[in-house]
Amino acid sequence: MAERPSQELSAEVLVVGSGIAGLSFALKAARSARVLLLTKKNAAESNTNYAQGGIACVTSAEDSSELHIRDTLEAGAGLCREEVVRKVVQDGPARVAELVELGVRFTERQNGGSREPDLGKEGGHTKRRVLHAGDITGKELERALLSAVRSSPMIEVREDMVAIDLVTSKKLKLPGPNRVLGIYVLDGASQRVLAISARMVVLATGACGKCYLYTTNPAIATGDGVAIAYRAGVAIANMEFIQFHPTCLFHPSAPTFLISEALRGEGGVVVDAQGKEFTRKTDSRGSLAPRDILARAIDEEMKETGAPCVFLDIRSKGAEFLEKRFPAITSTLRGLGIDPAHQPIPVVPAAHYQCGGIPALLDGTTRLPGLLALGEVACTGLHGANRLASNSLLEALVMAHRAAESLPGKLAKIPRADSIPRWKEGKFHDADEMVVITHNWKEIRQLMWDYVGIARTNKRLLRAQSRLRLLLKEVQEFYWNFRVTSDLLELRNLALCAALIVESALRRHESRGLNANADYPKLQKRAKDTVIEPGAHKI
Ligand code: FAD
Ligand code: SIN
Repeated sequence: MAERPSQELSAEVLVVGSGIAGLSFALKAARSARVLLLTKKNAAESNTNYAQGGIACVTSAEDSSELHIRDTLEAGAGLCREEVVRKVVQDGPARVAELVELGVRFTERQNGGSREPDLGKEGGHTKRRVLHAGDITGKELERALLSAVRSSPMIEVREDMVAIDLVTSKKLKLPGPNRVLGIYVLDGASQRVLAISARMVVLATGACGKCYLYTTNPAIATGDGVAIAYRAGVAIANMEFIQFHPTCLFHPSAPTFLISEALRGEGGVVVDAQGKEFTRKTDSRGSLAPRDILARAIDEEMKETGAPCVFLDIRSKGAEFLEKRFPAITSTLRGLGIDPAHQPIPVVPAAHYQCGGIPALLDGTTRLPGLLALGEVACTGLHGANRLASNSLLEALVMAHRAAESLPGKLAKIPRADSIPRWKEGKFHDADEMVVITHNWKEIRQLMWDYVGIARTNKRLLRAQSRLRLLLKEVQEFYWNFRVTSDLLELRNLALCAALIVESALRRHESRGLNANADYPKLQKRAKDTVIEPGAHKI
């Protein structure tokens, strides 16, 4: 192994990720500490940026916290932590008010003499309670949060920086209890690996949707945070609960384009090619059943009939309504030759949300001192076995706030950041072998889609597990023998997340929420988390 020169940096608080969780936390943390925020592409690129439906929050007199809590628990299929659900729901209105103060422009409507938020409805919600900015809520959030972050003198944002692995006292064989000392990061501009020491590292790295061939997630969603934490010795929980969104556009030119659940909230109906509403066979809520139920109904229909897709029919609302309420979706569809005012939209389910992740309290505390996890990368118990629509932006906001509030107390207990050893890397960058990376990446995504999708069996899971073992070995050899690239780093994380999903699914001997296994069709009496301790997968 050759040692290359490595620029060393240090940070008081180092945040990885520039979605809603990372940005909201950085903004508030900057009141008490200097923050270095790293992100692997341009700063707006995140799952947050693509959010359409909005933020679930009780703001109407016709709604109540108790109803929002009940809907969340019901969607979560018995696995939510009720105390966590209560806190998130009850904190919501204050966090949303802060967003408005920051300049987020939620869509409003006229009610008599006053303006009030125009509330959307989504699956599993018994009331209209989703605040939205047209159908580009995520873009609006990123715009407002990034602009505030960029104007803070206490926050430095660095783009094109890929976090690789945490440096811990255990890895360095230092005495005392294990804690985080910093992180290694690939700087895209120089292609050098930087060693950055930090008193506190905050993983706000989002999801692992790219484990699947078909997903609504953008390219950044490669499960880096879960993989980084697991390799640092942190157990990972509930990864079997991957949520499939029922209505992703079925079109070769736009395979990840979401058709928001809010369309169904406004009267859109899922139908087959003959226009028949088949979804009520399994649930009287039909197109507005929680996502696990609806995605399964669609999957079954497609398998039974051999149809490549189903359809979302919202023609009844007419062009004027669609252009006003869903301008981005309507214009994207028209650009692809589909006019939703005149024809049903072809849709299929696609991997959308990671309910499991790094076990964390609502203030981001993990089991590893010096490490916080915020947003989709964390598993707090809010979502249980199936997330209620539009609860994730809310969770990220609540977590970021609580983490920033408790930061001074936490930092007071952590010693000054020490310097950490420079990165050692392999000598070679073998361009010929890069094809292996692309091939393995595709293979993982295909096998996860085929064997670890909406409907599971033990046989399929075991097949996936044995393929993934070989792939993990190959990727590991690559990692240790060649100069790291962002593609290789992402592949390494994707492979590990896929293995954690499969392992978790194999350990759950029941069908609950998003984990439907034909070999275990019943519910176990007691709902339990699946926790994969470190060491089960070496990578
Ligand atoms: P993200 O927003 O995904 O941000 C993660 C950040 O980490 C990114 O900046 C990424 O580049 C960075 N990163 C990742 N790995 C690394 C690394 N190794 N090094 C450096 N940086 C890294 N939820 C709702 O509540 N309402 C909705 O309407 C809604 N609509 C959605 C629509 C779509 C299409 C999708 C995909 C999701 C939607 N969700 C919605 C889910 C929601 O958007 C996400 O759960 C939420 O935005 C996650 O925020 P986050 O900050 O945790 O992660
Ligand atoms: C959507 O707009 O359908 C996505 C909402 C969510 O994922 O919460």
